[in-house]
Amino acid sequence: MRIRRLGVIGAGTMGGGIAALAASAGIPVLLLDVPAPLGGADRNAVARGGVERAKKAKPAAFMAADRAALIEIGNTDDDLERLAECDLVVEAIVEQVAPKRDLYARLEKVLPSHTIVASNTSSIPMSMLVDKLGVDLRSRFVGMHFFNPPRYLHLLEIIPGPQTSSETLDTVRRFSDRVLGKGIVLACDVPGFVANRLGVFGMVLAIRQMEKHDLSIDETDALTGVLTGRSKSATFRTADLSGIDVIAHVTKELSEATGEDFTLSPWVVDLVKAGRLGEKSGAGFYRRVGKEIQTLDWKTGEYAPQSKPGSPELATLSAMPLADRFTVIRDWKADDRYGAFVQEYLLRFSHYVLTTGPLVARDIPSIDDAMAWGYAWDAGPFAQMDLLGNEFLARGFSRLSLGEPDLLRRAKDGFFSDDGTKVLSFKGGYEPIERPAGEIRLADFHRPSNRSHLLEDSRDASLIDVGGGVAVLEYHSKLNTLGEGVIAMIHRALDRVERDGLTGLVIGNDDPRTFTAGADLAYMLSLVDEKDWSRAAEACRHFQNTALRIRQSPFPVVAAPFGLALGGGCEFSLYADRIQAHAELYMGLVEVGVGIIPAGGGTTELLFRFASELTPYIEADPFEGVRRAFQVIAMATTSTSALDARAIGYLRPTDRITMNRDRLIADAVARVTDLAPDYVPPVSRRITAMGKDALGNLQYAAWSMKEAGQISDHDVRIAHELAYVLTGGDGPPRQVTEQDILDLEREAFLKLLGTKETQERIKYMLRTGKPLRN
Ligand code: NAI
Repeated sequence: MRIRRLGVIGAGTMGGGIAALAASAGIPVLLLDVPAPLGGADRNAVARGGVERAKKAKPAAFMAADRAALIEIGNTDDDLERLAECDLVVEAIVEQVAPKRDLYARLEKVLPSHTIVASNTSSIPMSMLVDKLGVDLRSRFVGMHFFNPPRYLHLLEIIPGPQTSSETLDTVRRFSDRVLGKGIVLACDVPGFVANRLGVFGMVLAIRQMEKHDLSIDETDALTGVLTGRSKSATFRTADLSGIDVIAHVTKELSEATGEDFTLSPWVVDLVKAGRLGEKSGAGFYRRVGKEIQTLDWKTGEYAPQSKPGSPELATLSAMPLADRFTVIRDWKADDRYGAFVQEYLLRFSHYVLTTGPLVARDIPSIDDAMAWGYAWDAGPFAQMDLLGNEFLARGFSRLSLGEPDLLRRAKDGFFSDDGTKVLSFKGGYEPIERPAGEIRLADFHRPSNRSHLLEDSRDASLIDVGGGVAVLEYHSKLNTLGEGVIAMIHRALDRVERDGLTGLVIGNDDPRTFTAGADLAYMLSLVDEKDWSRAAEACRHFQNTALRIRQSPFPVVAAPFGLALGGGCEFSLYADRIQAHAELYMGLVEVGVGIIPAGGGTTELLFRFASELTPYIEADPFEGVRRAFQVIAMATTSTSALDARAIGYLRPTDRITMNRDRLIADAVARVTDLAPDYVPPVSRRITAMGKDALGNLQYAAWSMKEAGQISDHDVRIAHELAYVLTGGDGPPRQVTEQDILDLEREAFLKLLGTKETQERIKYMLRTGKPLRN
C-alpha cells in the first residue's frame, strides 16, 4: 500500500516537525490538535500555532517554505472524521498512556480498514497502548519513534506491537525509508526502545560518574563528547537541548517501567523545580548571558564563565582518529583523574549495553545505528568496544565487580569481523551483516577482500566498480577539495570507463557532511605567490576542460551531491548529465567570497541554462536570464536544501532528489543504468550575448548597491568582471558559443586573481575557513 496522505495528531515539537518533514517530501498532511479553548474565535488555533512554529524553527523544519501549503489544519473535535482520508495517522500527543488510549478508541470508530495508526511515543511499549483496541486496529498499529528535529536526525525506530501485521510493517518501513528518508532501526517493544534506553542510561551514568570523580560540568562534557566518539553536544549540552524537565520525566518513567535505577541526582531535580529547564527556559546546565556562555557549578548552584578544559593531552587526543584515541584511552594511567573517569564511564556504559542490548534490539548493528543516527555518535557502542578490546573490557568489568556478560564471552573475534562483513549474533555465532537492498557503501570496496573492485586508486580519489557496469568516482582528499590529484583522477576515470566499455559514471562519496568544499585554493595561492600566471591560466583552462569532458563523454555521468557542494564541486555537478541530489544539499557558487568568479564553467553554464530557459517565450526579456545568473553568482547563493537548489536553478527539472542519504549512491547508479541504452552526449549551444546595454544595466545595479553601503569597492570590481562575462563584453549583441564565454570567464578570473584584495580573501579563507569582506 502507498501512503498518499498523512494524518498527524498533536502539533507540538514533534507533530509540527513530522508534518514539516512529510510536506517537504511532497506528502499532503492533515494536522490536528485539541480545539482552542471555548470562546476562541479560531477553533484550530493550536494546530495553526504548531505550523507557525515549524515555519520559524531554527534549523529550518521545512526544506522549502512553500511546502507549508501542503499542511491542512484542524482540531480533534470537529475534524477527526477527516482522518479517514489518510493512509497513515501518526499520533504525537502528550506522553501519557490514558490520553493516548482515549484517542485511539476514538480513531477506531472513524478510520477505514486500511489506515495505519502509529505512535511517536518515546518510551511507552505498544503492548500498553493497544491494550483496549480491537484485533483489527491492533494489526494496523505500530510505533514510529522519530527523533528531534525530525528533518535532521536520521534515526527512526519502528516498533512492531504484539499483533502488528507484516503488511503494516512493510508499508511503514518503505514509506519512512524511501519517502521520508529515515534510517530505520527495528526495536523491541520495551520501555525506551533502543536509543533512549541506552542514551538516557549514558546520561545518568555521566552525571553520577562526574560526582564520583569530582569533575565539573565543563570537564565532563569535554570527556563525554567528541573525545569518546560521541556527539559534539556531549552530555549536558544535549540535555539542555532536550529539556531537563523532559529528561526528568523520562528517567522517572524508565525507572518505573524497567525496575532499573535511572534516578537523577537531587541537584538536577532542583534545576527543574527552579524552572531552569535548559535552552527553552534560557538556563539549565549552561546559560547564555549576552555573548558569554556560563556553566553551572553543580555543587553550589551558581553559574560561572564556561572554561574549556585546556589540558594539552586532551587537545592532542581529540585531534587523533577514533581508533588511535581509544588506544590512548585504554592505556590511560588510572591515577589520572580524566583517565579514571573516562575508563569507568566507558566500562560501565559498555557493560549496560552488553547486558541490556539483547533485550531491546534485534541485533548489534541496530544498536550501533541507533546511537550513530539518533545521538550523532561517530561510532556505535559495539564498534567502540571492538576498539577497546575484549581484554580491556573483561579486566575492567572484573575490577568494577560487574561480572562478565555472556555476550562478551562469546565475542571471541570481536563483535564485528575485521573485514567488517560479519557480526556476532545475539543467538550465538557470527552472521553476515545485512544491508537493505539498494544501498551501496563505498567504504565496503576499500576492504582488503574487496579490492578487486578498485579500478583506479590514489591518495585523493578512487574509481570503484560497484557492479552492473557502473563505476563510482569517489573523492577522499581533505574536505574532498578538487586539487591536482582529484582532477587527474577524473580524467583517469573518464578514460577508464570508456576503455573498459562500462555503462557510465557516478561522481559521489560517503562523507557524512561534505560532498566537496570546491577547488584547491592553497594550490592557486601558491601559483600567485610564485607569480606564475601562465600556470594559473593553464590550471583554470584545465578545470574548464575537465567540466567539458564530463559533459561530452560518450556515456552518462551522474553527480550525487549532498551536504556542502561548493564552488568547483558545484560546477562539475552542473556539467554532469544529471544530478541525483540528497535532499540535504547546501550547494553554491560561492567564489565571490574569495574574490573570484566561478571559472570552472559555472558562470558560463548558468548563463546558458537561464538564457535557454527563456527562448520558448516570445515575449520574454532575454535580460532576465542574464540578471538571474548575475544575482545567483554575485550573492554567492547557497541552497538550504535540494528543493531550494531547484528553485535557485542549480538543479534542473530532470535532476532528481533522494530523501535517504544511505540510498544516494545506489539511486545515482540506477540513474546511469536508466540513461545508458540510448545515451548521446548533449549538443553544444549558442545564445545571443547581450553586450553593452545589458552590461551597463548590471554595472548600474552594482553601483547602487555600493551607494547603499551594501558592498565594498572590491565587490564592485568583481561584479563588473562578472557582468562583463555574462553579457559577452561591451560590444553589440552577438551570437556566442559556450567556448566564447568560457574564454571570457577565464580572463576575468585571472584578472581578479591578480588583485591584492582577492589574494587577501583567499589567504583569509584558508586561515579561518570564513570569507573576508574587504
Ligand atoms: P509537545 O508538548 O510539544 O506537543 C504535544 C501536542 O499534543 C500539544 O500541541 C498538545 O496540545 C497536543 N495534545 C495533547 N493532548 C492531546 C489530545 N488528547 N489530542 C490532540 N492533541 C493533544 O510534545 P512533543 O515533545 O511534541 O511530544 C509529543 C510526543 O512525541 C510524546 O509522545 C513524546 O514522548 C514524543 N517524542 C518527543 C520527542 C522530543 O524530543 N520532544 C522525541 C520523540 C518523541
